Amino acid sequence: MCRYTEWLSRIGRTIPFFLLTLSLITPPAVQSQTKHNGQKPRSQASESDPWWKHAVIYEIYPRSFQDSNGEGIGDLNGIVQRLDYLQWLGIDAIWISPIYPSPQVDFGYDISDYENVDPQYGSLADFDRLVTAAKQRGIRVIMDMVMNHTSDKHPWFIESASSRTNSKRGWYIWHDGKPGGVPPNNPPNNWTSNFGHSAWQYDKTTGQYYYHRFYIQQPDLNWRNSAVEKAVFGTVRFWLDRGVAGFRLDAIPTLFEDPKLTDASELPGINAYGDRNQSSTLYENLPEVHGVMRRLRSMVDKYSGQRVLIGETYLPNVQELDKWYGGAKHDELNLPMDLQVGFINKLDATLFRQRISDAETKINGNQPLFVFDNHDNVRSWNRYGDGVNDEAIARILATILLTTRSTAMMYYGEELGMTTTQPTRKEDVKDPVGITGWPQDKGRDGERTPMQWDDTKNAGFSTAQTTWLPVAADYVTKNVKTERDNPESLLNWHRKLIAMRRTNPTLREGETIMLDTTNPSVLSYVRKGGTGHPSILVVMNFTGNTEIVSFDGQKDLIPGKASTLLASGISLAHQTSLNGIALPAYAVWIASLE
Ligand code: NOJ
Repeated sequence: MCRYTEWLSRIGRTIPFFLLTLSLITPPAVQSQTKHNGQKPRSQASESDPWWKHAVIYEIYPRSFQDSNGEGIGDLNGIVQRLDYLQWLGIDAIWISPIYPSPQVDFGYDISDYENVDPQYGSLADFDRLVTAAKQRGIRVIMDMVMNHTSDKHPWFIESASSRTNSKRGWYIWHDGKPGGVPPNNPPNNWTSNFGHSAWQYDKTTGQYYYHRFYIQQPDLNWRNSAVEKAVFGTVRFWLDRGVAGFRLDAIPTLFEDPKLTDASELPGINAYGDRNQSSTLYENLPEVHGVMRRLRSMVDKYSGQRVLIGETYLPNVQELDKWYGGAKHDELNLPMDLQVGFINKLDATLFRQRISDAETKINGNQPLFVFDNHDNVRSWNRYGDGVNDEAIARILATILLTTRSTAMMYYGEELGMTTTQPTRKEDVKDPVGITGWPQDKGRDGERTPMQWDDTKNAGFSTAQTTWLPVAADYVTKNVKTERDNPESLLNWHRKLIAMRRTNPTLREGETIMLDTTNPSVLSYVRKGGTGHPSILVVMNFTGNTEIVSFDGQKDLIPGKASTLLASGISLAHQTSLNGIALPAYAVWIASLE
């Protein structure tokens, strides 16, 4: 079973950076199709399809996106300033990581008030303006909802900690230490926190320990107490009433723990924090969480406007993932994240083929959600890149994300090829986990550096003298302005793919059928066209060698000839034959089949 520290898939290393210039071909047909993509209505969705089924959802880490008031920290008004860019890119919704009032120990994931906005990000009025301005551009706003824990400064916890008899004592998980031991060295069991060391914190005032799956300042709520569900669901309603399009549910598999608090079994090895590895089955993904999900879904479904429930669901396999949809009953989350695909972390065509097929066939017809990047993990550029062909590899990842049938989730800067830029000195680290784990785990600052807008001071992110995290050095060449002006940039690659996916009925609806299924080097699939709509062939060379592939044996799936829609590499621009196709290293070829 995965632990948070394992799925962070962190790679502490210096990142070599080579920008590879590729010659990219966009045939005229695609150019004209994409010209107005920011404004195209989502008219081709079938009537019954909810909006999120074909969406591209873009994660904004608000501290790092755009600073509007020169403090060096991003804010809501900054997001408003950049909405035109997001519309131009063609995205459908933004997920904003937490903006609630918070002591910011975990940069917002430690909430001290669920029904307000932290002054460093703005106000409720700013939030309402953002929702309105986004709506005017056809963009929905999704909130981050942290249900597993609060801040230790939340009034609920302050009350709970005030005495053993307080009416909110049972809202959190309090327990005596192990008999025979002496506090603070006798926690109730051996569970370790995802951020290192014991998951129990001794509280002198009341002489008991409280449980925290994450930082000490993030006490876990007790979901076995129905008052907790009532209170948290109330906060969900608060935002639904304000018009949000849905929620990304933080760390949602961690809601329940073994009520007997049995010791976890130990696993071989020591983690980055010096703790013995252990099985997480007693505190992650317990079956009780599904009841809460069903009740939440039923409440949210009563709201108009197809609100969406997305789960942060790091799970061991597709069978577990299916349960988060409610399987064939479809009564839990709309879009639990499928992290099986995006976090394969190596360009292995066989594994990608298998996992994309699993998402197609093993989740009871539910809608998959793929994601390669977020604020907790080393960026995909570095996880998949080889230091030489990184940009070409990034095009492959974007192609998988945007040409499969899944809903797509992106992370700010992914479209530019932003890299993870780790702190080089422990004293510069902002994410506490990077201090505990230094130097094996340098924390998550590296993937949270400011968005790179242009080549001016602070990459156009802020006018401040210093920004909360330093801007990555590559901003001078890798930024929105430069890439926007270059039709062959990675940014424009994303934009073209998003436009195709939005306007092409086959890419929207067509079944995915894997081709050449024993090829270990090339991933190929067809998105099957319906009446009047040609099928689309997607071919990606996962290796640094030229690979030759042929599809003309599959007449049922691939009739006639092909015409290129989008390709990396000159040689594929005019490829029409489906026989003996020479794919240059890491090439992508997307073709319409006539
Ligand atoms: C998952 C969030 O993505 C991460 O940033 C946070 O630290 C933990 N959950 C705890 O809320």
